[in-house]
Amino acid sequence: MKEEVKNQVLRLKAEHGITPGLAVVIVGDDPASRVYVNNKKKACELVGFKSEEYALPEQTTQEDLLNLVKELNNKQDINGILVQLPLPKHLDDKAVIEAINPLKDVDAFHAVNVGKIMLGEYDFLPCTPAGVMEMLHAYDIPVCGKNCVVIGRSNIVGKPMAMLLLHENATVTICHSRTKNLSEVCSKADILVAAVGKPKFVTEDMVKDGAVVIDVGMDRDENGRLCGDVDFENVKQKCSYITPVPGGVGPMTIATLMKNTLKAAKIQNNL
Ligand code: GUN
Repeated sequence: MKEEVKNQVLRLKAEHGITPGLAVVIVGDDPASRVYVNNKKKACELVGFKSEEYALPEQTTQEDLLNLVKELNNKQDINGILVQLPLPKHLDDKAVIEAINPLKDVDAFHAVNVGKIMLGEYDFLPCTPAGVMEMLHAYDIPVCGKNCVVIGRSNIVGKPMAMLLLHENATVTICHSRTKNLSEVCSKADILVAAVGKPKFVTEDMVKDGAVVIDVGMDRDENGRLCGDVDFENVKQKCSYITPVPGGVGPMTIATLMKNTLKAAKIQNNL
C-alpha cells in the first residue's frame, strides 16, 4: 500500500506540483503515543509527504489546541490533520475532533465522516478498521455471510470495524464488558477481531478451530513487553490465520493513514 501511495505521490508532484502534507498533533508525553507519532512521521517520509509535527506540552489549554486546529484547517499545504489520542484528561477530545475540517480529517473521526461511513458513502475510512479489511482482502479471506465477532465498542476501532464488516455482508456481533457468555459468543466466530486493550485477553478456549483472528491490541505483558489482546502462542495452534503484535494491524493502520492523506490532497485540489 505504501509503495502504491509513493508512486501516486510522484505522479501528483510531477503532473500537478502537489506534495500532500500531514500535520500530526501530540499533546503531552504518553510514551505509546510518541511511538505511534514517530512511526507516522517515518511513513510520511517514505511515501514522499511533507509532515509537520506539533508537540504540545501536557498543560496545553483547550483554547490553544482549538486555535492550532483552526490554523491547520486554513493551511494550504496541510491536507490531513491528525490529533493523536488519547489527549490529557483536562482536554475535550470530542470538541477537538469536531473542530477539524472534515475534508482534512484523515482519521475519519469527525461526526460528518462517521455519518458518511454509516451511510456507506465516504471519503475516508478510519485507519485501523480499514487496514484490517485490506488485510482480509489481501489474503483472499471471504467476509460475506461469515460470523464476525468484534470485541470492543470504541469509536476508533470497535464500532467502525463492525460497520465495515457489515458493509461486506458479514453477520456481525459486537461484544463488550457487559456481554454475557463472551467466551461462547467468541467461539462461534469465523473472524474474531480483538480490540479490548487487555493483554492476552483472548485465550484458545474462546477461538473456533480454523478461525481468523485479528489482534488490534497494543498492550504490555507482565514483563512490560509489547503484546496484543490475544494469547498468540496458544491461539495460533487453533486458528487458520492470526495477526502478530507488533507487526500485524499497526503497520496497516499507518498505511491506511497514508492512503487517506493522499486522497485528502486530491480532493482538496479537485483531482
Ligand atoms: N490513538 C490510537 N489510535 C489512533 C488513531 O488511529 N488515530 C489517532 N488520532 N489517535 C489514535
